[in-house]
Amino acid sequence: MGNYTEEINRRRTFAIISHPDAGKTTLTEKFLLYGGAINLAGSVKGKATARHAVSDWMEIEKERGISVTSSVLQFEYDGYCINILDTPGHQDFSEDTYRTLMAADSAVMVIDASKGVEAQTRKLFKVCGMRGIPIFTFINKMDRDARDTFELLDDIEKELGIATCPVNWPIGSGKAFQGVYDREKKCVIAYSDTEKGTKEGKATEVTVEDEANLRKLLGDEAADKLLGEIELLDGASAEFDLEMVRAGQLTPVCFGSALTNFGVEIFLKHFLNMTTTPLPRKADIGMIEPTEQEFSAFVFKIQANMNKAHRDRVAFMRICSGKFDANMEVRHVQGNKVMRLSQPQQIMADERKILSEAYAGDIIGVFDPGIFSIGDTICMPKDKFQYEGIPTFAPEHFARVRQMDTMKRKQFVKGIEQIAQEGAIQIFQEYNTGMEEIIVGVVGVLQFDVLKYRLENEYNVEIRLENLPYEHIRWIANKEEVDLAKLTGTSDMKKVKDMKGNPLLLFVNSWSIGMTLDRNKGLVLTEFSRN
Ligand code: G4P
Repeated sequence: MGNYTEEINRRRTFAIISHPDAGKTTLTEKFLLYGGAINLAGSVKGKATARHAVSDWMEIEKERGISVTSSVLQFEYDGYCINILDTPGHQDFSEDTYRTLMAADSAVMVIDASKGVEAQTRKLFKVCGMRGIPIFTFINKMDRDARDTFELLDDIEKELGIATCPVNWPIGSGKAFQGVYDREKKCVIAYSDTEKGTKEGKATEVTVEDEANLRKLLGDEAADKLLGEIELLDGASAEFDLEMVRAGQLTPVCFGSALTNFGVEIFLKHFLNMTTTPLPRKADIGMIEPTEQEFSAFVFKIQANMNKAHRDRVAFMRICSGKFDANMEVRHVQGNKVMRLSQPQQIMADERKILSEAYAGDIIGVFDPGIFSIGDTICMPKDKFQYEGIPTFAPEHFARVRQMDTMKRKQFVKGIEQIAQEGAIQIFQEYNTGMEEIIVGVVGVLQFDVLKYRLENEYNVEIRLENLPYEHIRWIANKEEVDLAKLTGTSDMKKVKDMKGNPLLLFVNSWSIGMTLDRNKGLVLTEFSRN
């Protein structure tokens, strides 16, 4: 519908997932370099010092020199309009990191070639897997000594349960890294040291059929190894199948070195070629196609106190269909209100740009006077449909909250409830009592500090957190059929309820989960809860 089809179809919106230090920031910077979004890649989001300058949204970020919040980077490349959803890179990521994945249409997975699949990648992958979005793998740091290539692919397949299909193949690693073999073109693209840190220069390409030149380029030993590996590879690896890639069952794999800028543009080109235009989204009236419906969006993240002086909140929305125009009236479905969105803006790493229009696939931030909740739908005034909610993800760290000054009970409850509503923390109560005892659950431990800091600074309430040993949480999927009082678990299991009164179980280890399931036949437990 309308003339915005072309704009929507050139959009590609993806998130980058990786374990800290795998090279996500470096890769993003190199992407931006190709897109010409900035002159100097390093200025986007450098290390500690630059990061301080970039975001002063929360004191805590400054103190620790890390980025708690995430932002969206948009750039143009080869006719595409690309949105990269940046996720907090530090180990202490939060539930927001997961929610950001809900707004992406595909994911780029960066893996350190010397390490393989690491803990955080595993967690983020799980969420991508749940959504069935395409995942593209970049195995980074080939300029350092890497693990065996077959072993790395095997690791991805076994650890993550996704088939791999190498788009190219590395020739050596570390000091012996010579470039990659392009499987489609059947040629070697040689790595040259002189290209370091600059745009990828014109690489030397030699076809494998031209064996004499291949040997001259690589040396006999590397050439023999490569020819042997190609043979093995062609016999053993999964056939390339775009349908499977799109369904998130097969991941195309590229090798390179983000730091020295080898293989980045090759990867970007392959990625853009294979990834999808903005995906349709599920709503209560069926799937909404991006180009067939007028404007609609959903809120996937709420960022409080971006400007402390105003106590403001910004709601981040993913546009799912049509075109957004800053002057138009929209309906906030959950609030049942027709309104204009205030100060629509694009949030970049170091700037906020007020925007007048945006299209399906784009992410916008709008001023939130405290009316939006995560998962809310915004659409045209005449429409009333709702997008499927965003799941609540399982926290992995728990603490009991003790209030220091019991006279401030009201502020305390208000503060903690508001912070929970924004989705920074989850709060639980003993299943058979009220708000007397509150247990806080977080995805990343940094959120404990954020909670303490915000309660003190915004609500003037001092708290003490007492860590609890629980590491696993499970919602009861068939709660109507289960009598919580009668449920028998292990002695270290705790019964609690969430803000909506849903029963939950906390466990110290996964063994207890198994025991509890064994002891209560018919009990169904889940790791996610749909709002
Ligand atoms: P992250 O966002 O995933 O956490 O990783 P980031 O890009 O910040 O990279 C982590 C470290 O790894 C950085 O080094 C970075 O320079 C380095 N790195 C990234 N890609 C490559 C690569 O392809 N090869 C090599 N050899 N190193 C790479 P650092 O010492 O922590 O920071 P810096 O002082 O170099 O900025």
